[in-house]
Amino acid sequence: MKRSPETEARGILLAGGTGSRLAPLTDQMSKHLLPVDETPMICYPLATLMQAGIRHILIISTPTHLAEYKKLLGSGETLGVNFEYAEQKHPEGLPQALTIGSAFMKSHPVVLMLGDNIFWGGSLIERLGTAIREPEGATLFAIEQPNAEQYGVVEFGGDGEILALSEKPKAPKSSWVITGAYVFDRHAAEFAAALAPSARGETEMTDLLECYRSRGLLRADCLEPKTRWFDAGTPKTLAAAAQAVGEARQAGNTFLGKPGRIASANGWIA
Ligand code: DAU
Repeated sequence: MKRSPETEARGILLAGGTGSRLAPLTDQMSKHLLPVDETPMICYPLATLMQAGIRHILIISTPTHLAEYKKLLGSGETLGVNFEYAEQKHPEGLPQALTIGSAFMKSHPVVLMLGDNIFWGGSLIERLGTAIREPEGATLFAIEQPNAEQYGVVEFGGDGEILALSEKPKAPKSSWVITGAYVFDRHAAEFAAALAPSARGETEMTDLLECYRSRGLLRADCLEPKTRWFDAGTPKTLAAAAQAVGEARQAGNTFLGKPGRIASANGWIA
């Protein structure tokens, strides 16, 4: 199992929203509790944070569903970690995770993971460790995808500089999509608080990232092709993620979506 040494960085897991693209499955149930192979969806990004050595994790969900996450995960003691919980009263956009989490982050760097993002293979864990150690700025993790119009997109210039960021562009100028793992420095909450909602009525992660890009403080880390990544937010991608995770487990990846095994391997529990 790949893991980074323990870090003082904080983790935020964003598990709110409406899950409307998975209705009716999400009419009564929070999206991130839906099963993906053997464990609930949220266990995958949680496991990624723990593999990156993060022991202080804030879980954000809706007022309706937060209690279910508390029941599933508790204080974190049995995993040797510390969980805190916070409500997002209305789904007003991904950057709100940083304003809600500002007191929790204090001046520490933070890894924000979207609760429906599942990663394995490749070197994301090591790359998170590198990004956390940067003294300032933000890092996004990009991966090449054929259907970039369904995601945030990052456009690069000839020498690799970040030219532009766009959210679900109709005609993407790049096949590099922005995954739901981000590392931010202590300025993220103040930038997020100043964002205006987009035309669809929520603040956009691409706008928060643009605050860093325009100051020369955004890094884009391009994940290798062998990295497996799923945004399990639609019926099709949820089914594909479950299938691929099942195959990976059978092929010997026993840590995927298993926070308890990671806690043991990290030496955080006996
Ligand atoms: O998965 C990567 C993509 O995630 C990025 O490429 C996009 O730039 C980013 O905007 C996001 O796009 P999605 O369309 O997948 O976002 P979605 O609305 O599904 O929200 C992502 C997760 O965050 C989801 O698990 C629900 C949660 N969420 C979302 C919003 C808007 C919240 O908890 N609160 C919110 O206000």
